[in-house]
Amino acid sequence: MQEPGSREHLAASRSRRAGNRRSRRGIRRILVTGALGQIGSELVPALREHYGAERVLASDLRIMPLHRSAEGAYEHLDCTQPQQILEVIRRHDIGTVYHLAALLSAVAEEKPHAAWSINMGGLYNVLEAARQYRCQVFFPSSIGAFGPSTPRERTPQVTIQRPTTMYGVTKVAGELLCDYYAGRFGVDTRGLRLPGLISHVAPPGGGTTDYAVEMFYQALRYKHYTCFLGSDTRLDMMYMPDAIGAMIGLMEADAARLRYRNAYNVTAMSITAAELAAEIRKHIPTFAIDYQVDPVRQSIADSWPRSLDDGAAREDWGFSPRFDLAGMTADMLARLSEKVRAPKGS
Ligand SMILES: NC(=O)c1ccc[n+]([C@@H]2O[C@H](COP(=O)([O-])OP(=O)(O)OC[C@H]3O[C@@H](n4cnc5c(N)ncnc54)[C@H](O)[C@@H]3O)[C@@H](O)[C@H]2O)c1
Repeated sequence: MQEPGSREHLAASRSRRAGNRRSRRGIRRILVTGALGQIGSELVPALREHYGAERVLASDLRIMPLHRSAEGAYEHLDCTQPQQILEVIRRHDIGTVYHLAALLSAVAEEKPHAAWSINMGGLYNVLEAARQYRCQVFFPSSIGAFGPSTPRERTPQVTIQRPTTMYGVTKVAGELLCDYYAGRFGVDTRGLRLPGLISHVAPPGGGTTDYAVEMFYQALRYKHYTCFLGSDTRLDMMYMPDAIGAMIGLMEADAARLRYRNAYNVTAMSITAAELAAEIRKHIPTFAIDYQVDPVRQSIADSWPRSLDDGAAREDWGFSPRFDLAGMTADMLARLSEKVRAPKGS
């Protein structure tokens, strides 16, 4: 072990930095699919900050809004079209794909056929292109990859996965397909089972945990929120900065240390709507919540874990979230109050 500050330690850091400079010059670009969504809107700037703007290509099925066109390179890319993916990967010399394009849980239940085609077809197309061009692939799985027969408290890393939603079916099949491409073709696939993500940059895309983000906006605008899940429905959540850190951390981790590539349980807090409302009330004392349960989203939530065991991620690659419920709530309210104004008279 080298002492920090010792000659050996400084020499090792110098040689690591030189290695990084060398590999940065020779390194291929990073493609993010579904980049205009809730995660991509924060992952793309974080990757550009971390690796350099010129190395990161954003893409989505949607047209890039005009006001964001100066943010960096962007391609219109439909992941259900294999030729488009191959073409973009070849033309931009892509070496890593963060594959975010998908339909989320509530939307997938409304449109199960489209969800199969986008979530599974898109992933298959990305993996095939990655096999041909030797790319590394990040796949975001979800707490939705578990089902009603999974142990719901401190859900283990390896356990029963029999989801009952189309979203869950595509996530568990996606985890298996990524493992297959790693084992059979040597593609460096890695994944996380993400919990509900709370963020203030882009709105959530139709998931079961969207209530948490909605609650912040409504608390600031109207001091009132009607929640579509029951008050005591407990689910895992994470603040977006921790999710972004986890994605980049996993992709940079030493492959030899990864016991489970697809996919690692990660979580930062296990909370109910009532607990989140109580935390918001510490900052906005007049905030009130009531409940009008949506049976579709409630039944999805009831089939998911109440809390995950993320010990394997902590042990294997040092996952360590920074934000708990109190820290996340204070930061969300501070950042959102800059952009959300309460209507006059409220
Ligand atoms: N946000 C969460 O809480 C959460 C939690 C767990 C897992 N995930 C997973 O992370 C990924 C990204 O989630 P998100 O919250 O950013 O979703 P989102 O719905 O906000 O964004 C998804 C993006 O994919 C795009 N898209 C849809 N079909 C496409 C296609 N055929 N080709 C290219 N792009 C297409 C959409 O236009 C959208 O911009 C998804 O795989 C999701 O399942 C998200």
